[in-house]
Amino acid sequence: MPEPTEGPGDLAALFGHPGERRPVVLEIGFGLGEAALALALAEPGRDLLAVDVHAPGAGALLRDAAAHGLTNLRIVLGDAVPVLRDLIGPGALDEVRVFFPDPWPKSRHHKRRLVTPGFVRLVASRLAGGGHLYLATDWVDYAAEMLAAIDGEPLLDNPFGTFAPRPAWRPVTRFEQRGLDAGRRVVDIVAERRAEEVAAPGALGEGVVEVVAAALVDDLSRPRRLLAARRTEPAWAAGRWEFPGGKREHGEDAVVALRRELVEELGVEVEVGGEILCPATGSAWPIRPGYVMRVWWAQVASGEPRPLEDHDELRWLDVAGADGWLDVPWLDADVPIVEQLRSVAR
Ligand SMILES: C[S@@+](CC[C@H](N)C(=O)[O-])C[C@H]1O[C@@H](n2cnc3c(N)ncnc32)[C@H](O)[C@@H]1O
Repeated sequence: MPEPTEGPGDLAALFGHPGERRPVVLEIGFGLGEAALALALAEPGRDLLAVDVHAPGAGALLRDAAAHGLTNLRIVLGDAVPVLRDLIGPGALDEVRVFFPDPWPKSRHHKRRLVTPGFVRLVASRLAGGGHLYLATDWVDYAAEMLAAIDGEPLLDNPFGTFAPRPAWRPVTRFEQRGLDAGRRVVDIVAERRAEEVAAPGALGEGVVEVVAAALVDDLSRPRRLLAARRTEPAWAAGRWEFPGGKREHGEDAVVALRRELVEELGVEVEVGGEILCPATGSAWPIRPGYVMRVWWAQVASGEPRPLEDHDELRWLDVAGADGWLDVPWLDADVPIVEQLRSVAR
């Protein structure tokens, strides 16, 4: 796969059949790879991309795949979130599977859980219309969080309204067996991607300008403070507050452009988190005729933000303040984005 900074990869080429579209399935957190191996063997007409952060499991799966001569399986060793965000284009997947994600059972660790509303939104944006997200867990409180995240995601439907019957094709893995042996109930959840059109970030209409911006927060894992920047120009925007950022140059990678803009405007290097997707488009936010904006969570990695260009004041807004993050006059187009951020942070 290309490095994340190179943008979405060509999945058909990755699977050795450039130009020929076959259904693509993404399995996230394949563990020892039992389900990935069994399902790649059972579904030779579908391409299976299996992602995990754990190298020994990837080694075992590679060995087993080679022993079976599998050609429809590719493994990515890495975190599923940047893989989804940076390597997979909007609408590129037909199915996403997350079987028994790490449960992080202690409540102080819940924030480490993978399946959150932001993750579900990212997955939904990468699914084609009619595509499916399959989840399974043996932790009942996590299952409730998953159902709520799907329920709150405008791009997804839950065809069962609640838990789904166990799909007959889903093999029992070692992690599932461990849960069953411990007496835990296993539940499945299925969500279906609605068929609205997906706007690909690279596929902007003729003459459409893409702006990249940062929702710069104090802590990506638990955002409490958000940085707003007051514009000095043009006249219609002067005095209103916005996300720092700027225009992506022709041919420039979006995240590279974001980092460049933040150095130029604020003098800071940042750690970039997940993209905040517009529910209506599945990707960029239309901000005014001819302009769309892509927004990422970000956290300062080095430097202290200063208003170096285009702004005369910066302000850290506290989510616990009177109006949460809405207590400055944001540009009209930024308000729905701030509202969405706030709903996640609370
Ligand atoms: C509890 S195991 C379940 C493995 C497998 N799905 C199964 O049912 O046997 C969770 C797996 O998710 C992987 N994982 C955790 N966070 C991840 C992330 N952000 N991206 C990719 N894989 C992740 C872990 O390394 C682990 O292999």
